[in-house]
Amino acid sequence: MTDTTKLTTSAGAPVADNQNSLSAGARGPLLLQDYQLLEKLAHQNRERIPERVVHAKGWGAFGSLTVTQDISKYTHAKLFDAIGKKTDLLIRFSTVAGELGAADAERDVRGFSIKFYTSEGNWDLVGNNTPVFFVRDALKFPDFIHTQKRHPKTNLRSPTAMWDFWSLSPESLHQVTILFSDRGCPTSVRHMNGYGSHTYSFLNAAGERHWVKFHFKTLQGHQHHTNAEAAELIGKTRESYQEDLFGSIEKGDFPKWRMFVQIMPEADADKTSYNPFDLTKVWPHADYPLIEVGIVELNRNADNYFAEIEQAAFSPSNIIPGIGFSPDKMLQARIFSYADAHRHRLGTHYEALPVNAPKCPVHHYHKDGAMRFFRNDTGNPDAYYEPNSFGGPKETPTYREPPLKISGDADRYNHRLGNDDYTQPGNLFRLLTPDGRERLMDNIAAAMQGVPAFIIERQVAHFAKCDPAYGAGVAKRMGVSVPSARAEAAE
Ligand code: NDP
Ligand code: HEM
Repeated sequence: MTDTTKLTTSAGAPVADNQNSLSAGARGPLLLQDYQLLEKLAHQNRERIPERVVHAKGWGAFGSLTVTQDISKYTHAKLFDAIGKKTDLLIRFSTVAGELGAADAERDVRGFSIKFYTSEGNWDLVGNNTPVFFVRDALKFPDFIHTQKRHPKTNLRSPTAMWDFWSLSPESLHQVTILFSDRGCPTSVRHMNGYGSHTYSFLNAAGERHWVKFHFKTLQGHQHHTNAEAAELIGKTRESYQEDLFGSIEKGDFPKWRMFVQIMPEADADKTSYNPFDLTKVWPHADYPLIEVGIVELNRNADNYFAEIEQAAFSPSNIIPGIGFSPDKMLQARIFSYADAHRHRLGTHYEALPVNAPKCPVHHYHKDGAMRFFRNDTGNPDAYYEPNSFGGPKETPTYREPPLKISGDADRYNHRLGNDDYTQPGNLFRLLTPDGRERLMDNIAAAMQGVPAFIIERQVAHFAKCDPAYGAGVAKRMGVSVPSARAEAAE
């Protein structure tokens, strides 16, 4: 049996003294040959890696999906192929804007990333706790994130930058309305929904394509903090989500979500009054009802937060047979962005790290690079290129997706032309309880303090187009009038 009580160097040699460094005489100086001291200091200098450029603060745990309904007529994805089937998964939740040390109970969108370890590869669904997003063209994502992060001179968050950008980008109205509603500050990750948000595709055994959206409804019930409650809590603890999630799982109170899909036949995409690939829109449930799929449960905490949660790498590019992409412009860009971020943040072979490694055979021809500690040559060192004559792994044409019809001229299309940015946020406003509407408008007014009047007026005009009571309520709180039809979008 290994002696776990004996301290060693990282090369395995026993350490004789871990209290006193090696010095010339009792008062020093130190000797350069004290490699144990050098090793400790050098390792400490390398304990940090870049934090995620967004979604830096996070909380995660392991669990499973158990299938409860048969959806095999829509997808041949193996994780859904039998009722009762269980697939291991990891979920990492996060806030978007705050840095690694941000307080958990801040008003923000929450990330909801799931890695399903399926028998045909890892499927990563990298979503949020909201079904929509602030922008619909990836070209605007870095600009949007700059408004959420610190001002280059003051090094402070800037409400002016946020409302300037939002008021010039009316496609943000839907997400802004959710952000400042009660659901913008859940009490814990256990008390919020998750959404895949984008439209993806399902492919069935007959080669038919359906468009699909994914929903995860909390079985713990929705719970939220008001701004005042959150401020008081943050004064007591900045780690309320970690305490809640870790603590619940440790005591055996396992959080659960019911997983649903919305399914749209491929041909419907040309018929809906809205673009079903527009990430700022939902598909109304009345048109595309929720279909139950299964239950997600989290039941195991990570043994090492850094190794298993901080080093977790989720990417929308990780899909599996039976699940595909859609023309959604945001999704298309995310297919590039995440693996690029992971190579920078974690290193070339990040997918070989235990938390990211698929739980199925992996045979690729990628070669060397830092930390190439694994082999993938199927035991045959001559098969290191493809095609080869030595029995190396080959492609499997049966996994080809059916062709997708694309039409139109290559151009830069103005995504703000002919796009209704107002009806769905208005529907959400009207769906809130009267108290909920008041809190929404109070929260907006609180967030607008100090913002120049011309920006407030421009934003109020947008709210008024969603619902007159929405515009009037915010205008009254901010002491401005509702400008007449002055909603301006950036050209
Ligand atoms: P439905 O009445 O059929 O669905 C309403 C949805 O809104 C439910 O999913 C519900 O989630 C969610 N919801 C309820 N209260 C709030 C709230 N305070 N903040 C955010 N979401 C809430 O209506 P529609 O499908 O026609 O959608 C109407 C509006 O509801 C949309 O414009 C959108 O803003 C919002 N919504 C719609 C979703 C969709 O996929 N259709 C998903 C989420 C929100 P729950 O069951 O968990 O309470
Ligand atoms: C994290 C880019 C839009 C959800 C990240 C990261 C990048 C990124 C670079 C850090 C990845 C890492 O270091 O591991 C982008 C780009 C977007 C976009 C370019 C738009 C084009 C979205 C949208 C959603 C989303 C629309 C949700 C629907 C997340 C989540 C994380 C994340 C949840 C954290 C993942 C984790 O837990 O590790 N994003 N993002 N992002 N993003 Fe996005």
